[in-house]
Amino acid sequence: MSRRALDELGLGPIWIRRDQLAALAYDAEAEENDATPAARSAQGARPAAVALSGASTKPAAKASRAPVVVIPDARTRATPQETAQPEESARSREIAAMDWETLDASIRGCTACALCESRTQAVPGVGDRTARLLIVGEAPGAEEDKRGEPFVGAAGKLLDNMLAAINEKRGDGVYIANVLKCRPPGNRNPQPAEVAECAPYLARQIALIQPAVIFAIGRFAIQTLLQTDAPISALRGKVHRHGEIPVVVGYHPAYLLRNLPDKAKAWQDLLLLSDQLASANRVSHA
Ligand code: URA
Repeated sequence: MSRRALDELGLGPIWIRRDQLAALAYDAEAEENDATPAARSAQGARPAAVALSGASTKPAAKASRAPVVVIPDARTRATPQETAQPEESARSREIAAMDWETLDASIRGCTACALCESRTQAVPGVGDRTARLLIVGEAPGAEEDKRGEPFVGAAGKLLDNMLAAINEKRGDGVYIANVLKCRPPGNRNPQPAEVAECAPYLARQIALIQPAVIFAIGRFAIQTLLQTDAPISALRGKVHRHGEIPVVVGYHPAYLLRNLPDKAKAWQDLLLLSDQLASANRVSHA
């Protein structure tokens, strides 16, 4: 990777001590290779079991069809063993009709899964509610749980640098959210039932924001949004769709902090994202 590209990403001087890597809120080891169903079920995590399918680009209030979110019945607290049921619950229908304030309060007060017991606070998301670019990560880590904002730890600094490299900025035309709104204890992988309970929240955020482009970072976000088991390596370099919304995929910044050689690929992903944003701009100004 060229020196310039590294500088643009702000990666030149970044070195993380081995003993500090454990604190990164991400299973970076699994990013590339553990994407097969067998490998994931061995870890007790199958993000693709949950559908945020059919997300409309329009808010439910305005759209003829609200986003269809497939989640298990939320009346009982989910256990890790449960699998998602293919029917829309009353809870997901209720969430699909929420405005921003109600949604925010609902996320902050959510007790639908056991993560509410270990969290300091829920982390709904941050940024511009009319953003063109929505970034979707995995789940809050320790720092995010403490501060109530997504991507504020080491991975978040790298994410900010990556955005700056394509002239984008957190909060300015950009919204950042996670698949899970609460921190999994010890930064373990999200479990399918947890993803299922949180899915309506992300679906509603997408419907309210109506982003021009989604940047899905890391395998949990990618597999949840695209409903695929495919590894990131097979999905990179193409534009996918979540409903009608173009989705660009990329490596999770926590993974990139550990895997220097893949930063060149991250630069390519950012260029694709930038192209998509530019073409979305052209369409909106046509
Ligand atoms: N990793 C994520 O996926 N999200 C965060 O908010 C922080 C770290």
